[in-house]
Amino acid sequence: MEKPKYHIFVCASFRAGGDPKGVCHKKGALEFLPYIENEILDRGLDAQVTSTGCLKGCDHGPVMVVYPQGYWYGNIESEDMIDQILDALEDGGSVKEFLIA
Ligand code: FES
Repeated sequence: MEKPKYHIFVCASFRAGGDPKGVCHKKGALEFLPYIENEILDRGLDAQVTSTGCLKGCDHGPVMVVYPQGYWYGNIESEDMIDQILDALEDGGSVKEFLIA
């Protein structure tokens, strides 16, 4: 198995018990998954997107993390914001105003 160059984690709010709690899924984070997947394909990015359990940044939800860079993005509420994040990733950087950590 080959590892992707970038791994994008999108919070789906799941807790250890299995039920989603918190804000990310309520604010539409899961709807971003197919959008990000399509953008990865369209852009030819060597990246993978995965939903996760609660990333413990609920106050900043929806939360999205990009590894290996360790960019923690918060309050991601539009496809335009995701486009900016992916544009920055292609340019080798981050969108600093969206970073929460
Ligand atoms: S529900 Fe997304 S960070 Fe907690």
